[in-house]
Amino acid sequence: MRDTIFYASKDEKITPQEIAHADLARKLAGECMVLLENDGVLPLKSRGEIALYGNGVRKTIQGGTGSGSVNTRSITNIEKGFEEAGFTVTNKAWLDANDEHYKKMQEAYQEWLEEEGKRRNVPPFLVSFDHPFSEPAPYTISKEEVAGCKAKIAVYVISRNSGEGKDREDREGDYLFYPEELDGIRNLIAGGKKLIVVLNIGGVMQLTELKKIIGINAIVLMNQLGNLGGNALVDLISGAVTPSGKLADTWAVEYKDYPSSATFSHNNGNVDEEYYQEGIYVGYRYFDSFGVTPLYPFGYGLSYTSFDIKPIKVEQKSEFIAVSVKVRNTGDYYTGKEVVQIYLSKPQGQMDMPYQELVAFQKTGELRPGEEESIDLEFPLELLAGYDTDSAAYLVEAGDYIVRVGADSASTQAAAVLTVKSRTMLKQCENMAFADEKQEEIKSVRKAVKEEALWKIQLDLSKITPITVSYTREHAQLVNTVKDQITMRDVLDGKYTIKEMVAQLSIREMAELCVGTERREEGSIVGSASYCVPGAAGDTSSVLKETRGVKNMILADGPAGLRLQRHFKTDKDGNILPGGEGFDGTYMPFKDVPEGAVDYYQYCTAIPIGWALAQSWNTQLVEEIGNMIGQEMEQFHVDLWLAPAMNIHRNPLCGRNFEYYSEDPFLTGKMAAAMTRGVQKHPGKGTTIKHFAANNQEDNRYGTNAHVGERALREIYLKGFEIAVRESKPMSIMTSYNLLNATHTANSYDLIQKMARDEWGFKGVVMTDWYTSVDMPMLTGKYASKYPISSSAGCIYAGNDIQMPGCKKNVDDIIDAVEKGTEQGGYTITLADLQFCTENILRIVAETMK
Ligand code: BGC
Repeated sequence: MRDTIFYASKDEKITPQEIAHADLARKLAGECMVLLENDGVLPLKSRGEIALYGNGVRKTIQGGTGSGSVNTRSITNIEKGFEEAGFTVTNKAWLDANDEHYKKMQEAYQEWLEEEGKRRNVPPFLVSFDHPFSEPAPYTISKEEVAGCKAKIAVYVISRNSGEGKDREDREGDYLFYPEELDGIRNLIAGGKKLIVVLNIGGVMQLTELKKIIGINAIVLMNQLGNLGGNALVDLISGAVTPSGKLADTWAVEYKDYPSSATFSHNNGNVDEEYYQEGIYVGYRYFDSFGVTPLYPFGYGLSYTSFDIKPIKVEQKSEFIAVSVKVRNTGDYYTGKEVVQIYLSKPQGQMDMPYQELVAFQKTGELRPGEEESIDLEFPLELLAGYDTDSAAYLVEAGDYIVRVGADSASTQAAAVLTVKSRTMLKQCENMAFADEKQEEIKSVRKAVKEEALWKIQLDLSKITPITVSYTREHAQLVNTVKDQITMRDVLDGKYTIKEMVAQLSIREMAELCVGTERREEGSIVGSASYCVPGAAGDTSSVLKETRGVKNMILADGPAGLRLQRHFKTDKDGNILPGGEGFDGTYMPFKDVPEGAVDYYQYCTAIPIGWALAQSWNTQLVEEIGNMIGQEMEQFHVDLWLAPAMNIHRNPLCGRNFEYYSEDPFLTGKMAAAMTRGVQKHPGKGTTIKHFAANNQEDNRYGTNAHVGERALREIYLKGFEIAVRESKPMSIMTSYNLLNATHTANSYDLIQKMARDEWGFKGVVMTDWYTSVDMPMLTGKYASKYPISSSAGCIYAGNDIQMPGCKKNVDDIIDAVEKGTEQGGYTITLADLQFCTENILRIVAETMK
């Protein structure tokens, strides 16, 4: 008889909490969609007949694939969404035919997967990582079909899926439209239908060809919205919700307009070395500074109503610039929300500056026609600084800074000119030793132009005390001075400190604690690990459970909700039976269920994907959703949520962009901070911001080496993490798979200790991404790694406290490295280093046990 406690419910019935959570997710989803085009067809004037075309109508994508997908009770697809709202769908025959066609493609793929799995000698789902099911071209929409379709209004849903292990491609059916999709749309228009195109996608596509078609009445970027996506879309289409989402990325006319396009991932045939030659010029920073006009600018989005944003005052308030604005709904009929966006243009001094950078934003409340809201925004003076690599310092250049106010990055008005008399140093750092010295980066040739503004302010920077960062050079060794065997209870009761407990631990105990597990019991599979919470990604070691009462923390993915197994069964003795959904979401039936078996249920809420959340620009609502996730963590006994994911959308083809927020580090950081504040309102529950850092490519994800210059690292790729750490104190950070300037991020002292802990004050625990330090050729798939895997000693050296999930070799390696002083992958460690990591883990475990 097992003594495992399962926290899941034995009752399958839907609870009031589950309903309330779904409602909240639906409300948030309503704010995540972006209305790209509308000639007045939306909102629809009545709920009559409607024709629905495209793969996404029935196979509506809730979120991407891999660890970022969330298993939920049910999904409301778009067809169901329309029907539940009272519409009559008139083209069921076409939808059935498309289903058949889709099914055949899926079956053919499944067969190929099995074959390929056998050929590679790995389970088929591992093959699916580098060869995911690709969206098939939809069933054709003939002229006869259109002529026979009764409804006057048609909705065409384009869907695209992506996920871990594979970058998207600049080809038809992925970044580009299938000719069948465009033909179908043309035929519907030619047949006299009013046409709304809906994009149920997880990353930017090339919309240029779509925009060339005359007669499309509206384009809605639905995004991927969780389990009630179909309802949320119809809320917007029917006018129950006024669109208020704004783009979190720049949408280019052509893929090649993105500065990293020529060399990104597989594009140049080299997936081992990735050179970030665009430096800080990512997203709108590039488009604006190099005069490349996008199809849709960053921050853009239409509403059913119109707004006027009027700057009322700009002033310096101590260490901040305060901007007051008035927003008025100038429309006659619809209520709605607007997003006020503030950008800053810095002077071209010795540092090359982008045309503008987002420094503050806020969404209004729901405004009725004619209603006005006053909004007070502020941004800290430190945002005036750029990082000067030559002096290793954050500096504010002398010159004029223009504060721009508006509703998107392309239509702002200069509200104030802030003048800085002389170059001022704000923070003295050290350059990260590993940052590429020879990184060649593009430079903008932009000349600063004099601009008129309402307010001219002479800035006083004397209010800021310059900081010199003090870096940790080594850790002090702890020596035991206590006779009692210290337990976690003693620590929680304040009898002894964590340091005192650590000083009593043996090297083996500490090594084991620093290596997490993935309980692969019978019937469980990779990724569905932690035994008492099936479907959780893993847990920390229980080596000190019996001796000192240190619990093992349970870790479960995100970021689009809590990723657990929905339904599992145990035999009467508490042993989990094989079956339920596997890692890839496919459901395996329970076979040979013994008598007395018990059913358990873990229904979690799927929220909009990270990219969609960013499009809401609503930090309050994201915080509320974080709070909701914290509640589900309490319910299912998960300690750390492996989310939010916050890598930068460097290039639109990154396979995991759907999980990440934006091309902009400020928006990214604010979203992650809001989410963390929400989750961590629940004592003992924490977020794990990931993947630290520069995890912007999925092809060869375990072995790719990102070459990024110091300034681009700090101002673009680390900035969001810095904001999240400083503003919301996440309990945990997960390092990335990729190498950064030839060092595994998991082994990087500069990144983990000097940057996160010393510069930003991070006090939590750091863990690796899954198997970073485990040699598993089966996982790297078709990519033979050019670099050796991350070293266990390297993790301890860097202060990467937990190797997730590790193996016996990791434990042995740590013990050897401490006891015998052996060098591993160029790293040697001391007892003090191991004690330091142990202390970090125990401090967070203590938080989860309070
Ligand atoms: C992903 C992480 C995830 C982990 C655990 C890895 O493959 O990169 O984002 O948290 O698996 O499932």
